[in-house]
Amino acid sequence: MTVIYCGPIPIHWLAPTVNVTEPVLRYILSEDEWTKGSSFKAQRRRDEFLRSRYLIRRLTGTTESLRQDDHGAPTWPDQWTGSITHKDGFVGVTLLPSEQWLSVGIDAEDPTRMRPEFASRLTNAAEVALLQMFAVTHGWTFNAALTVLFGFKEALFKAHFPLGKRHFYFLDAAVESLTVTHIDNMTTRGQITARLLIDSTPTTPSGTIVSGHFTSVTDTGRSFILTALALPR
Ligand SMILES: CC(C)(COP(=O)(O)OP(=O)(O)OC[C@H]1O[C@@H](n2cnc3c(N)ncnc32)[C@H](O)[C@@H]1OP(=O)(O)O)[C@@H](O)C(=O)NCCC(=O)NCCS
Repeated sequence: MTVIYCGPIPIHWLAPTVNVTEPVLRYILSEDEWTKGSSFKAQRRRDEFLRSRYLIRRLTGTTESLRQDDHGAPTWPDQWTGSITHKDGFVGVTLLPSEQWLSVGIDAEDPTRMRPEFASRLTNAAEVALLQMFAVTHGWTFNAALTVLFGFKEALFKAHFPLGKRHFYFLDAAVESLTVTHIDNMTTRGQITARLLIDSTPTTPSGTIVSGHFTSVTDTGRSFILTALALPR
């Protein structure tokens, strides 16, 4: 397991090449989690589910199963709030103390999977212009910039849904700024803000600006863009 910081938010990251044996998983997971994870037909989903719960168990030290509501949102143990992401067997988990944080959302996306034709479902005209400008300024492809926006909006949803239980979609938030804060030959890190265009939770009415972070990551020959945001108490 490695820790990747996305701004100040630590993402505990497990690559599929890290071997966690079945006896270890069986020992560390609750019976419920083992049974649920084992029931997935697709091997990748099974591994992602079991290995994300393995990370959570190691990080929290609790023996409780991580419950999920009818929409798939996790219900975190009392002292924690958290978020899970997986992509092609890679697993990321963030846990923050609930004393200080209401909620957190993280997401991992592979920029090589992004297609320009997705833009119309994800962005308005002003966002397209912002992404084009960002791409030209920093020598990124438009698709890579679009991946940051996509991942951030997924993370936004993961952070807000558990608080408001309200479904909302990509055009219900608009990215207003995208800036690079660090660049070297391995990684680009930056900040992103979006305006919510709906009342997503009782305390985040339409018009609320939410800020988060992104970082590029290369691991075992794969590239990802991680995004994260946390909502303070
Ligand atoms: C739920 C959703 C955000 C998951 O994202 P994804 O990129 O497909 O998948 P990821 O691997 O990154 O995340 C999966 C994890 O998200 C979490 N999750 C699922 N539903 C969730 C919800 N309603 N609220 C919060 N977290 C949720 C779960 O922990 C899940 O992992 P698990 O099943 O192992 O517990 C996505 O499928 C979705 O429905 N998006 C549409 C809504 C949206 O993004 N709107 C944009 C608003 S601007």
